[in-house]
Amino acid sequence: MNVAALPNQLAPAPSAPASGAFADAAGFITAASPHVMNTYGRVPIALSHGQGCRVWDVNGKAYIDGLGGIAVNTLGHNHPKLVPALQDQIAKIIHSSNYYHVPGQEQLAKKLVALSGMTNVFFCSTGLEANEAALKLARKFGHDKGIERPEIVVYEKAFHGRSIATLSATGNPKIQAGFGPLVEGFIRVPINDIAALKQATQGNPNVVAVFFEAIQGEGGIHAMHLDYLRDARKLCDENDWLMMIDEVQCGMGRTGKWFAHQWAGIVPDVMPLAKGLGSGVPIGAVVAGPKAANIFQPGNHGTTFGGNPLAMRAGVETIRIMEEEGLLANAERVGAHFKAALARELAAEIANGGVKEIRGQGLMIGIDLAKPCGVILTQAADIGLLLSVTADSVIRLVPPLIITLAEADEIIRILCPLIKQHLA
Ligand SMILES: Cc1ncc(COP(=O)(O)O)c(C=O)c1O
Repeated sequence: MNVAALPNQLAPAPSAPASGAFADAAGFITAASPHVMNTYGRVPIALSHGQGCRVWDVNGKAYIDGLGGIAVNTLGHNHPKLVPALQDQIAKIIHSSNYYHVPGQEQLAKKLVALSGMTNVFFCSTGLEANEAALKLARKFGHDKGIERPEIVVYEKAFHGRSIATLSATGNPKIQAGFGPLVEGFIRVPINDIAALKQATQGNPNVVAVFFEAIQGEGGIHAMHLDYLRDARKLCDENDWLMMIDEVQCGMGRTGKWFAHQWAGIVPDVMPLAKGLGSGVPIGAVVAGPKAANIFQPGNHGTTFGGNPLAMRAGVETIRIMEEEGLLANAERVGAHFKAALARELAAEIANGGVKEIRGQGLMIGIDLAKPCGVILTQAADIGLLLSVTADSVIRLVPPLIITLAEADEIIRILCPLIKQHLA
């Protein structure tokens, strides 16, 4: 595919060969960087700038963005309303500290409370921090009730982050390997199995919370069934447990509702957010309902960067622009289009079992292949498409929520032949 011929794209940046430590003599980007810790298996690309759903690398090559910075760039790149708002904020004040009130915190909290039906918010800067705060809330909830060794139910294939507590809650032995001893106090159960949840917790007075993603992201795009969400809500109420739903990846409009659990008509007690909330500016939040809103008291929790004026402005403006531009409806519409088009284009592969399932909701889509497909990440980038692969064999699409039907079609036109070739 001739990427340069893609329609609707702006003129690429002047094509200067890459230079610097991660480029070889010919200007090709190398996989590793000599001074940055080797923590990521990187695709040998360095991005320079973007516009909407397109990005360009330092060599001027264009890509269509099916990854959105891993479900972060809600408004795509260089959004004409977000950028001036952030510039305005930067010129006023970037950071002040939580010694003082930050008016933007109240503004964003009020909005999140209204959207979620919950009551109070704690701000931080990343997803794992939001989850770490949720875990602390659950433990203190237990201690306040006289439970000395509180236990939290977590799920197989879950991903909650890479701090010691959140990787302990994560259900992936590869992420935990080498970091023991893990944090104790977790009970692990399979997803969508209410009998297993009941059995694992039966007669255990130490259980204080259940903690799960409404749609597992890193685990391979596995959704909690709506019935399960409702049944779990009931069980939490009956047993006075906190229902804690990690919406770090699936939240903020990605599925077509503000929060993915809202499809089940329930309200959790604790909801960690991050990623898409700031459209690229680092931000995290823990939204709490009445049962959890007053557990933390002064001195119980805090963070230097959490809720700083720049991050708060990013959150407020992201939500405002999402509302103005109808991005929830767009996520639902384009997501349904994606799924239908993928099902049509890959009908033969679905029939012969090469494609096991196309799943997800809105603009959080997983294409589960019958064999590992990590290589597709690089192959797609080579021909101008950014995406990711999770759980070894699941191609994940989490594009900006501004994506158009035409851009979705472009992604389909690039991706489907690659999948067919991979499975052939
Ligand atoms: C569901 C979920 N929770 C938590 C995290 C961790 O977020 P962060 O990488 O910002 O720490 C992620 C990141 O992928 C996630 O998908």
